Amino acid sequence: MGLESEQEGFDPKSIKRPTLVEIEGIPLPDETAENWGRIKGFRARPDDLLICTYPKAGTTWMQEIVDMIQHGGDPQKCARAPIHQRCPYIELFPPKPLPSGFEEAEAMASPRTVKSHCPVQLLPPSFWEQNCKIIYVARNAKDNAVSYFHFHRMNRLLPNAGTWEEFLENFIAGKVAYGSWADHVLGWWKAKNRHPILYLFYEDMKEDPAREIRKVAQFLDIELLESVLDQIVQHTNFEYMKTNPMANYTTVPSGILDHAISPFMRKGTVGDWKEHFTVAQSEQQDDTCARLLQGSGLTFRTQL
Ligand code: A3P
Repeated sequence: MGLESEQEGFDPKSIKRPTLVEIEGIPLPDETAENWGRIKGFRARPDDLLICTYPKAGTTWMQEIVDMIQHGGDPQKCARAPIHQRCPYIELFPPKPLPSGFEEAEAMASPRTVKSHCPVQLLPPSFWEQNCKIIYVARNAKDNAVSYFHFHRMNRLLPNAGTWEEFLENFIAGKVAYGSWADHVLGWWKAKNRHPILYLFYEDMKEDPAREIRKVAQFLDIELLESVLDQIVQHTNFEYMKTNPMANYTTVPSGILDHAISPFMRKGTVGDWKEHFTVAQSEQQDDTCARLLQGSGLTFRTQL
């Protein structure tokens, strides 16, 4: 059973938006925080692959790419279940009786690919102990903020977004689920020096998907024929994924994700921030970013 089990005694109207509760200083949705003991104790296996991101950095896109690479570019095999079942989100504890991503991951046969949005310091320690491979995707702060704002509007498992101005203020202050964007991207940037982490950028994936897909396949030690690579590029492009019910989250009840408010597959571009940020907001975000990332070697492109 998945999040789409509308028929099984689940009333989406009963969903109350969560509050945020801090775990080790990081705000998390209350259901996730309540289950933190279990999440922290997640038992990773050595052949697990973890896809980790700050929310809205291109997680689903990478999940679909990885699943396609692992299945020889066969779209039929990748249509076996919605993306959140093929690659469970381990901190997801939706309202009962819907299953948690944590339990779905536990029940999965190896080799597993799982998803997390944990900042580096909150990742369940077994991923480090088992030396699991990790793919991290980062996206520039301005597009990431815009995408997160619209996702709050349509997703009842997140707090109310408020106005764009209010949301942006909270985003810059790190007062949103999973905390500060800068701490997240920087924490994982540093972690790649001591762990097998492939660190990729949304903007690079947009610029040259084939190049970035090759990097993923190489990291997974999987050889790709050019024809298979082409197939993966086609299948994972935005326009295609937008219409693919196994990837676009339209199978989730509309009481949880309301695509009429804002579709999950919204724009899929670099630079949409220009439609939302005022000049002053853009300058403030750029200054904050520059200050926090200074000296790290980590830089972002906000347009292509
Ligand atoms: P926008 O809201 O800017 O459109 P996540 O999967 O981490 O929740 O990220 C969702 C964001 O990635 C959304 O951004 C979504 O449109 C975008 N996205 C999803 N699939 C994509 C694809 N194949 N190509 C480009 N962007 C994609």
